[in-house]
Amino acid sequence: MRPQPPIITAPKTYRVKSYGCQMNVYDGERMSEVLAARGIVPAGEGEDADLVVLNTCHIREKAAEKTYSDIGRLAAAGREKGRSPLIAVAGCVAQAEGEEIMARAPAVSIVVGPQAYHRLPEMLDKAAKGERATDTDMPAIAKFDALPERRKRSPSAFLTVQEGCDKFCTYCVVPYTRGAEISRPFSHLVAEAGKLVEQGAKEITLLGQNVNAWAGEDEKGRAAGLGGLIRRLAAIDGLERIRYTTSHPNDMADDLIAAHGEVDKLMPYLHLPVQAGSDRVLKAMNRQHTAESYLKIIEKFRAVRPDIAISGDFIVGFPGESEAEFAETLSIVDEVRYAQCFSFKYSPRPGTPAATLEGQIAPEAMAERLHRLQTRLAEHQHAFNRASEGKACTILIDRKGRNPGQWLGKSPWLQSVWIDAPAAIGDMVSVTLAEAGPNSLRGVPA
Ligand code: 5AD
Ligand code: SF4
Repeated sequence: MRPQPPIITAPKTYRVKSYGCQMNVYDGERMSEVLAARGIVPAGEGEDADLVVLNTCHIREKAAEKTYSDIGRLAAAGREKGRSPLIAVAGCVAQAEGEEIMARAPAVSIVVGPQAYHRLPEMLDKAAKGERATDTDMPAIAKFDALPERRKRSPSAFLTVQEGCDKFCTYCVVPYTRGAEISRPFSHLVAEAGKLVEQGAKEITLLGQNVNAWAGEDEKGRAAGLGGLIRRLAAIDGLERIRYTTSHPNDMADDLIAAHGEVDKLMPYLHLPVQAGSDRVLKAMNRQHTAESYLKIIEKFRAVRPDIAISGDFIVGFPGESEAEFAETLSIVDEVRYAQCFSFKYSPRPGTPAATLEGQIAPEAMAERLHRLQTRLAEHQHAFNRASEGKACTILIDRKGRNPGQWLGKSPWLQSVWIDAPAAIGDMVSVTLAEAGPNSLRGVPA
């Protein structure tokens, strides 16, 4: 092994690099707040940071591998400069492979799991003494109570309301990396949402691995589900839009569906993964629902909110998936007419039941199925966008467009809409959706 250059033990600047899902983005923001509370500031653009937090994702092999290539790159840069940044590995790879990371990567000083990052300050104290620290405990809710107050200033903010998963789909690492399902208390969420709005958030996306499994008690001590929480948050002045992701079909309560017909601030968008269209495959995946029961839920949403945009996740090439079974996935795609989707090749994950199943599908066959699926999904997305032409709506501006003078925002249906007009990030602009492309639409300010 090549010699290690000295590691920066008293970092003044940091950078958090988040991979994977929106919950990781949320965790990344909260870790930034922990570091800021300690007086460590964000490194300037293009500048080397003293402390680099790799907030990793373990969901598929490709994502997990990035962890080691990033560590390698940082270590190499450190050797060149004769001074290595303090490297902390956070997120789901830290949770799943903490010991292995410590054994394989001497350049790493801190390994911190997704339920333990409120204890980063203690870990930094250890690092200051030149010691390495690992914390992958899963005390669940304790983290949120121990974190500093929200400081995030952004028109669109994430708020984790639920974490973990008890479903144990046979392909998935989440129940192992994020632990059991827990819900944060109602009053804490109302308070955090209020803080975010005070600091400029106009849109809040409620996050959870099974966000619609959220359960709690409202201010009067009555049992509440996600629908109840959304109704309460909708009463916050200044909050314009509410979204939530990701839902599981088996946790879908009628009250949440009803909220889509009653709460104006709740956006007409639903991310409800189905993963596959064949009941045999769904069973092997331990999804605990059928294609038909899934379609029934979609029907209920459309009954209360006919324009709702449906989005989903798909896995192609689950072990044993036949061509005919894959064709059932294409059929369900045609039935639902998704507005947007995420689709993946099955990736065997260590420790999950599906990884040892017989009938693993050859990579070429998976690639070919993924291509066919994505072509079909793109057709539906384009059709959904075309059907939006002529609609009047508000867009929330979230970034500058490609050309000077252009701005990009999100429609209620989460489409990217660009305008050629003066605007600023955070503006709510009334537009008519004029022209649909496959991935975005042109809006004309009203
Ligand atoms: N292989 C491929 N995709 C996966 N997902 C979860 N686990 C795997 C895996 N082992 C996908 C599912 C899930 C999304 C977040 O990632 O579609 O909904
Ligand atoms: Fe993974 Fe299934 Fe839980 Fe989603 S519901 S996090 S896919 S185990």
